[in-house]
Amino acid sequence: MCGIVGYIGKREAYPIIIKGLKRLEYRGYDSAGVALLNGGLKVFKKKGKVSELEGSVSADATKSNLGIGHTRWATHGEPNDINAHPHVSQNGKLAIIHNGIIENYQSLKTELEQKGHKFKSQTDSEVVIHLVEEILLNNSCSLEEAVRLALNEIIGAYAICVISEDDKSQLIAARKGSPLVIGIGDGEFFVASDATPIIEYTNNVVYLDDYEIAIIRDGELIVKSIEDVIKTPFIHKLEMELESIEKGGFPHFMLKEIYEQPKSIRDCLRGRLIATDSHLNLNGMLQFMNKFTNAERLIFVACGTSWHAGLVAEYLFEDIARVNVEVEYASEFRYRNPVIRENDIVVAISQSGETADTLAAIEMAKSKGATIFGVCNVVGSSISRASHAGAYIHAGPEIGVASTKAFTGQVTVLTMMALILGLKKGTLTENRFRELIFALDQIPNKIQKILDDTSSVKKIAETFQFAKNFLYLGRGYNFPVALEGALKLKEISYIHAEGYPAAEMKHGPIALIDEDMPVVFIAPKDSTYEKIISNIQEVKARKGKVIAIVTEGEKDIFNMSDYVVEIPATEECLQPLLSSIPLQLLSYYVAINRGCNVDQPRNLAKSVTVE
Ligand code: F6R
Repeated sequence: MCGIVGYIGKREAYPIIIKGLKRLEYRGYDSAGVALLNGGLKVFKKKGKVSELEGSVSADATKSNLGIGHTRWATHGEPNDINAHPHVSQNGKLAIIHNGIIENYQSLKTELEQKGHKFKSQTDSEVVIHLVEEILLNNSCSLEEAVRLALNEIIGAYAICVISEDDKSQLIAARKGSPLVIGIGDGEFFVASDATPIIEYTNNVVYLDDYEIAIIRDGELIVKSIEDVIKTPFIHKLEMELESIEKGGFPHFMLKEIYEQPKSIRDCLRGRLIATDSHLNLNGMLQFMNKFTNAERLIFVACGTSWHAGLVAEYLFEDIARVNVEVEYASEFRYRNPVIRENDIVVAISQSGETADTLAAIEMAKSKGATIFGVCNVVGSSISRASHAGAYIHAGPEIGVASTKAFTGQVTVLTMMALILGLKKGTLTENRFRELIFALDQIPNKIQKILDDTSSVKKIAETFQFAKNFLYLGRGYNFPVALEGALKLKEISYIHAEGYPAAEMKHGPIALIDEDMPVVFIAPKDSTYEKIISNIQEVKARKGKVIAIVTEGEKDIFNMSDYVVEIPATEECLQPLLSSIPLQLLSYYVAINRGCNVDQPRNLAKSVTVE
C-alpha cells in the first residue's frame, strides 16, 4: 500500500514523478504529494487522486532535478491534505515519503514532543523525519548517517526516500518489509515501489533488500547495510514491456486483463508444457522434487483471491497427487502457532509477492524448518525472494485492483505442479497425465471462445445491476470459484455477495432466498452435476432467480435456469480456469452499469503491504 517515487538526475523530476505516481496509483489513491528542490524545499500535497495534485503544483517549483512523490492508502490518520506525504521536518529542510507502518511511532513521537518537536499530521510516518532531524541536531553527522541511526530506532516496515534542502545532489532511500526498486540510468536514478515508473527510462534495476540503505549522491549509487557495511548491489535486467502497463485501447485495466487471459496462460505454459511430447516441467520444482514427493503435507498460505487459488489447489493436489493439503489465510496462520514439520512444504501464493501477511507467514514457517515454494507474479518481489524455490505465473503486470489474470495464472501453475507431482508419485497414470496436459494446453483457446461472445453476461449484468445481494454456489472444484465470483462482485460493485458450497445452502443461507435474490450456480457438467441440479431446484422452489454457468450443449440446467452462460467443456479439474471467466465479466459489467470505478474501487489497494 502507498506508492513512492523518487528521481535524481539531469531531467526535470516533476513530470517523471507524476507519471510514476499515476502508474503506482493501484497501491493507494486517497491522497498524493510531491517534494521538489528548487531553491528551497517545495512541498505540495492534496487529498484525492494524483490528477488533483497536479493542479496544485506551482510551475516554478517543477524546475527541479531532484524530487520525491507519494500516493497514499491511509493507515494512520484520515485521508486529507495534511496527512498526505511528503512530511517535513520541524525546520522545513528535510522531506520524507514512506510506505509501511512504524509500529513504535507513538513512543518516538512522545519523546520527540518532549524535546520540542511539533507534529502537523496524525501519521506514523512524520515521526521518522523528526527523528532524523533530531539526530542531525545532536550529532555532527551526515544526513546518510542520521537516517541510518534513525532506522535503527524504528520498529515496523518501511520503504522511504529522504531529501534535504542542504544537499541538492543527494537522495537517500531505505527498505525493510516494503518494496523498493532503484532504476539506474545514465547519470540519473529512479526510486519506486515497483518497476512500472522506471521501465520507460531504464532496464537496469537494483532491488533493495531489507535493512539496506541506498545513498544516491553526485551520480553514484552506494548501498549499505543498516549496520553501515558497504554492499555490492546486483543489477537486474528488467524484461517488462512498456505496453504491458498501459490500457492498450481498453476502457479499464480490469477488462484488458480479463481479455489478456488466453495470452497470459499461454505465457505461463510456454516452455513448460509441450503436449505433443508429453512434456511438463517446472524448473523451480525440479531441485526440490524429493521434498515434494516426501512431503507429508502441503500448506498453501495466501490472502484474498490468491487464497481462493489455494483452495483450488487443495482439490487438485488431493485428487491428483494424493497428498494432504491445508489452505490457510496467511493472516491467521502467522499468529496461530501452527504445527509445522520439517517435511512440510509451505506454498505461498501471491500476485504482488509483497502481501505483508503472506510474507510474514512464510518467514515464520521458514524459521520452523519448512521448505517454502513461492507462486508469484511480480518477478523479484519479496515473497519470491524469501522462498527457497518457486514458479512465476508470468501473467504480466496486473494493474486493475480486482485480480483476474493472476487468479487463472496461479491456478495454471498450481495445476502444473499437481500434475508433475502426481506423475512422479505414480498417483496419476501416464495416460491420464497425457490427457490432462492436452486438456490444459487447450484452455487458452477455450477462454478465448468465452471472451468472443459476452452477450449473455452483459444481459445478466444489466438485469441485476440494482440487486442488493447475490449468492454464488458451486460444488467441488467450483466451490472456490463461487467464493472468487462473490469477492469480485463485492469489491468492485459494492453489492453484498456470498459464496458457498452449494450443499451448505440448506444450513443457513437458504433463508435469504426470495424472488429478489439472484443466485449464481457454477454448474458445468461434472461429477457433482446431479447434486447441483437438486440445489437449483431448491432455489427455484423459493422463487430465487437462477443464473447458471453451464457446459455448452447441456440441456437440463439450461432449461431450469432463468439465465445461463455457456462455457466449453473441459476436464473437471480444469474447470475453474473456464468457469471463473464469466464471473469476472459479470462483476465488471455490473460495476460499470452502476458507475463504479472498477480499476480503483473504494478503500482498496492492489498491494497490501500492511498487516
Ligand atoms: C481481490 C484481490 C485481493 C488479493 C489479495 C492478495 O481481487 O486482488 O484479494 O488477491 O490482496 O494479494 P496478493 O495476491 O498480491 O498477495
